[in-house]
Amino acid sequence: MHNVVISGTGLYTPAQSISNEELVESFNTWAQQANREQAEAIERGEVEPWPESNAAFIEKASGIKSRYVMDKAGILDPQRMKPNLPERSNDEPSVLCEMAVAAARQALERAGRTAADVDGVIVACSNLQRPYPAIAIEVQQALGIQGFAFDMNVACSSATFGIQTAANSVQLGQARAVLMVNPEVCTGHLNFRDRDSHFIFGDAATAVLIERQDKATSAHQFDIVSTRLLTQFSNNIRNNFGFLNRAAEGHVADADKLFVQEGRKVFREVCPMVAELIAEHLSENGMQPSDVQRFWLHQANLSMNHLIVKKLLGREVSEDEAPVILDRYANTSSAGSVIAFHLYQDDLQPGALGVLSSFGAGYSIGSVLLRKR
Ligand code: COA
Repeated sequence: MHNVVISGTGLYTPAQSISNEELVESFNTWAQQANREQAEAIERGEVEPWPESNAAFIEKASGIKSRYVMDKAGILDPQRMKPNLPERSNDEPSVLCEMAVAAARQALERAGRTAADVDGVIVACSNLQRPYPAIAIEVQQALGIQGFAFDMNVACSSATFGIQTAANSVQLGQARAVLMVNPEVCTGHLNFRDRDSHFIFGDAATAVLIERQDKATSAHQFDIVSTRLLTQFSNNIRNNFGFLNRAAEGHVADADKLFVQEGRKVFREVCPMVAELIAEHLSENGMQPSDVQRFWLHQANLSMNHLIVKKLLGREVSEDEAPVILDRYANTSSAGSVIAFHLYQDDLQPGALGVLSSFGAGYSIGSVLLRKR
């Protein structure tokens, strides 16, 4: 068994961003228009008027102030309210591939590696653009990597599950290095006409290079001390979009073919599970929460992250201990904890311990213990 490190990380951030105020203005314009169109039915008490959204509520309930997106105009157009990403020919790179390659190139550069040093590519994300050929194989070809590539999906926990999968390949000697990439176009599966969730997601892509510790030469190395994964079935976060939709006529456009959740239940149920898993994981490795210098947590909700770390440490935490990126990125699904890791790692001293943790649909939870070399 080889020891493994994360030797480089990369981040692709879309050029465009939407503030809460812009998003709410679009939502409310649409809601007012829809209410005008059904004014008589509302008057007769046959239908409820669409309630308006509120930027202050969004920031207070979630901690989100803005989000990066692949197409701002399409999302904000009250007649459309979804990104406008025209279909590309089979000869052009897919949107996910393009984002993944940008993040992957940065991870390779930070690791001081080229495509020739890598034997595998894993694309791990919440929503794949197509069933096949795998996006990962497209990324592999675009980067000129020899070896194997495959896609995997564990929703918001895709990155931590992807890190364990990549680490296993390198530990066993099946690959010298594996690129694990998380391209997330979350706005593609977000219902911008659902007031409860229209503010939740943004778009981004992250990448990590995982390689043998004895061969790594990068200045940005973190030992993968241990990984721990957990899943437990829940209907509280679902997306029922899939290839059998066309075989069940009349339901293709239903709301459940996009992201739907019971946010309160998720909050209540997931926080204790995450705190317990991280505490157990640390304990199994002879460590305790107070040994951890940094928690790079999944970025879905600020209060959720505060609660999880408070359960672990028994006190409030500073942003230095649990960095926040969701204020400007919103929830970028699997990319979120890796964005935090990528942006907030360079100040750590050799020997510093960090926990990278994701949680989300499934339910699925991942914990990765990392030590700066
Ligand atoms: N603008 C104004 N009011 C809104 C609103 C909006 N956009 N959305 C909801 N509200 C209202 C609700 O109707 C409700 O009103 P009521 O009290 O009169 O019934 C009130 O605000 C509270 O709504 P609720 O949905 O209970 O808010 P919340 O405090 O639970 O926050 C989330 C909502 C989604 C931010 C929060 O539940 C959350 O983040 N949960 C975890 C989600 C998560 O991590 N998911 C993982 C996805 S991968």
